[in-house]
Amino acid sequence: MAYVKIEIKNLSKHYEDTSKGKRKRDVVEKKVIDDLNLKIYANEFICVLGHSGCGKSTLLNLIAGYIKPDEGEILVNEGKTKITGPSRERGVVFQEHALFPWYTVEQNIGFGPKVARKNKDEIKEIVDKYISMIGLEEFRKSYPDQLSGGMKQRVGIARAFANEADILLMDEPFSALDEFTRANMQKELLGIWKNNKSTVVFITHSIEEAVILADRVIVMGEGHVLTDTGIDVNREERTVENPKFLEYVNFFKEFIQDDNK
Ligand SMILES: Nc1ncnc2c1ncn2[C@@H]1O[C@H](COP(=O)(O)OP(=O)(O)OP(=O)(O)O)[C@@H](O)[C@H]1O
Ligand SMILES: [Mg+2]
Repeated sequence: MAYVKIEIKNLSKHYEDTSKGKRKRDVVEKKVIDDLNLKIYANEFICVLGHSGCGKSTLLNLIAGYIKPDEGEILVNEGKTKITGPSRERGVVFQEHALFPWYTVEQNIGFGPKVARKNKDEIKEIVDKYISMIGLEEFRKSYPDQLSGGMKQRVGIARAFANEADILLMDEPFSALDEFTRANMQKELLGIWKNNKSTVVFITHSIEEAVILADRVIVMGEGHVLTDTGIDVNREERTVENPKFLEYVNFFKEFIQDDNK
C-alpha cells in the first residue's frame, strides 16, 4: 500500500461574515471548508483548481498549520502526527513573497538552512544551487528593494526550495511571472520534486499548468472536492499538440464553468 503522507479527515472551517449587515448580531457563519476528505500519498504532486473564493488558500493554510480547523483533523506520515501548527517539514510558498527587506538575496535564501543549523559550506552550496536556478547570480548581494516584482517572486520561491522540505505547499506561486519564466520555473519545480522526493500541493488558476504539473488534480467547489482525477499522460507528452492533454484541460474547464453557473 502506498504511504499516506497527508490525510485530511472530515475537515471543516468557517469564517464569520459581517458583510451582510452592519450590526454585530448580523454576523453569519460562512463555511469555507465543508467536511473535506482527502488522502495525499508520499511523493505525489497534487494540483488544486477551483473558482475564486472556493476555499483553496484556506485549505493550504490549514495544511500549513497557520490556522486551525473547526472540525476534523489533518494527519501526516501515515497518521503518526496531527498538524497543530507550522513546521519546517512543510515549506510554504505564497503568491506574495514576504522577503526580509534587511537581508540580501543570498541571506534570504540561506535563512532556512541557517535556522536548520547547517554549516557554512552546506549553506553556501544550497544558496548557490538555488540562486543559479532562479538566474539571479548577479543580484546575490542586492536587497529586495532593488529587485523587480518578478525577481522578488523568484527569490521567494528559491527561499522555500532551499528549506528542502518534505512537503511543499504552494499557493499560486507562478501567477505573477511572465510566460517564459513561468515555464522555466515549472520545469525546475518538477526537477526539485523528483530530486528531493517531496510531496507537493500546488494551487493554481491555470488549468493548463495543473495538467502540466500534476499526478492528480483536485477541483474544489465551495469547500469540498468536486473531482479528484489522475493525469494519465507522461510528463514529456503534456503539450497542447497532444489531444489527450487537451481532453484533460477541457474536462476540468467544463467542471469549473459548471460550478460557476
Ligand atoms: N480571514 C478571513 N476572514 C473572513 N473570511 C475569510 C478569511 N479568509 C478567507 N475568507 C473567505 O473564505 C472564502 C475562501 O477564501 P480562500 O482565500 O480560501 O479562497 P481561494 O479559493 O483561495 O480564492 P482565490 O482563488 O481568489 O485565491 C472567501 O469567501 C473569503 O472571503
Ligand atoms: Mg487563494
